[in-house]
Amino acid sequence: MHGRGDPAIIARVTVDVNVAHNARVWDYWLGGRENYEVDRRVGDEIIGMFPGIVQIARDDRQFLARAVTHLAGEAGVTQFLDIGTGLPTANNTHEVAQRLVPGARVVYVDNDPLVLAHARALLVSGAGGITDYVDADAHDPDAILHAAAKTLDFGRPVAIMLLGILNFILDTARAEDVVRRLLDAVPAGSYVALTHPTHELGGAANVEAIRHWNRKATPPLTCRGRAEISRFLRGLDVLEPGLVSCSRWRPAPDRPHPPEVAQYGAVGRKP
Ligand SMILES: C[S@@+](CC[C@H](N)C(=O)[O-])C[C@H]1O[C@@H](n2cnc3c(N)ncnc32)[C@H](O)[C@@H]1O
Repeated sequence: MHGRGDPAIIARVTVDVNVAHNARVWDYWLGGRENYEVDRRVGDEIIGMFPGIVQIARDDRQFLARAVTHLAGEAGVTQFLDIGTGLPTANNTHEVAQRLVPGARVVYVDNDPLVLAHARALLVSGAGGITDYVDADAHDPDAILHAAAKTLDFGRPVAIMLLGILNFILDTARAEDVVRRLLDAVPAGSYVALTHPTHELGGAANVEAIRHWNRKATPPLTCRGRAEISRFLRGLDVLEPGLVSCSRWRPAPDRPHPPEVAQYGAVGRKP
């Protein structure tokens, strides 16, 4: 492990190096260094079964950058609640947002101990901006909202970022309820941005790779189809081009026709 996590926090948290953890394997697929041998082994096994996973991770991060650019730019949002943050990498939400709006406020939420240990890297804001980190479980929106209220003003619009996280709430009704609770707490003009893995675009190899993940790694995850993911967007005005492969959501001009990846993405506005 060659990371730059906070040694004082690393000494306090329990990092299980015997089981692959999602935040660390995701970091590995993104080319990061905050991962252990077990993460790289399982990460490589998944690549062997389903090579498209690496492009999914990259396209998901590029979706994040494009969605936050739209939200902080054209949409005028200055507050972000990013649940299932992941380990710090290039273009974290606050960096993209504060480039456009120096005073933007961002609250990050994750429940992985290593993400907590690395949170310091997420907490360096530009002048005027504020970031905070909350160690909480996505299954507990009330705890998240309570902690986030120290930094975010819930009387003004908030962009709720749910990238690659609802797939860890295995029961769809429960995941829908989490999204509802979060949306109930924010005013009209707020947004949800989400990405979610799907077998609809991934085929048999993707199904096998997810099965392997659920046998070997933690936490377990589920894929969903368009109909189920659309439930998370119910009542929102879904921005063009709708729920699409995240690579195809408003692609960058220098890559106008990217191939689809097995990860849907969408952005919706609370009317
Ligand atoms: C696939 S990564 C996505 C990271 C980032 N949002 C992105 O799109 O690049 C999922 C993240 O969700 C976190 N996570 C998984 N289950 C969680 C839970 N129940 N509560 C909070 N975070 C969770 C993992 O630790 C990991 O950092």
